[in-house]
Amino acid sequence: MERATKHPRDRVPEPMVMDDVEGVRAFHEAAQDVQMPIYEFNASMMSRLVPEGGRVLDLGSGSGQLAAHLAAGRPDLTVTCVDLSEPMLETGRAMADKRSLDTVEFVAGDVTSLDDAVVGRPDLVSCNWTLHQLPDRDTTVAALTQIAAIRREHGSAVWLFDFARMRRDATMRALMEVFTPGAGPQLRKDALASEAAAWTRDEMREMLTAAGLDDLHESYDRVLETYQVWWAPGERAADAPTWGQPSISRDAAKVAQLITGAQTDLPAADG
Ligand SMILES: C[S@@+](CC[C@H](N)C(=O)[O-])C[C@H]1O[C@@H](n2cnc3c(N)ncnc32)[C@H](O)[C@@H]1O
Repeated sequence: MERATKHPRDRVPEPMVMDDVEGVRAFHEAAQDVQMPIYEFNASMMSRLVPEGGRVLDLGSGSGQLAAHLAAGRPDLTVTCVDLSEPMLETGRAMADKRSLDTVEFVAGDVTSLDDAVVGRPDLVSCNWTLHQLPDRDTTVAALTQIAAIRREHGSAVWLFDFARMRRDATMRALMEVFTPGAGPQLRKDALASEAAAWTRDEMREMLTAAGLDDLHESYDRVLETYQVWWAPGERAADAPTWGQPSISRDAAKVAQLITGAQTDLPAADG
């Protein structure tokens, strides 16, 4: 049915900043099971783009669960997490303290207008599951223009991951039944709202071009077209150490493998 439907459905924006305390808690706690396949996919691929001892700037980091997973598989990296949501930042700082993660830091910042002091000199600038939160095209182009400027100035690699909006809203519901049956009501509600707010690949392509990022690799889920990734290597050869594969559940590993196998055109293991 999804494939037979020709036109994209209308986008339904959601609130930009995730600062509802219950929503933040549900999102943070979902990391170890429901969301781990996505973190494993993103972190293992991002790792391929960053040289030994490199620096990652993760924009719209939420509570840093992805950063923490990246740090577990690549302890040589330093990750700066940037978000506008105080509850997300506080949750992330508490997690980093508890796990003694001293290579992950949390900074308040707006992805559409970042201070140089926050940006630093990243080897990789990433934005995961966040572009759909932005209210409209112009705000999203502003965020992408920031990313393009960071890339130009520092020769950074780029990794942008998000949902791609489906043509039918029933599709996402069905996918969640199959792949994330353990998602509680709050997480389910947020995930459905995020997919409805996501950009289509065509919309993303147009915004990336407007922002000066028209040369990124485009990777998408060739089976379900649920996820999109836009990425580019950095100017410095990554020559990345092997991904340290933190221990995750067997189910999460299986789903991560399915996601990775379904995506087209991903970074090669040797950077
Ligand atoms: C769905 S969460 C994704 C978090 C994380 N990247 C992950 O993959 O788990 C999106 C995050 O983007 C943040 N966000 C939205 N708009 C932002 C902006 N303009 N600047 C900084 N953060 C923003 C939200 O507060 C939220 O924490």
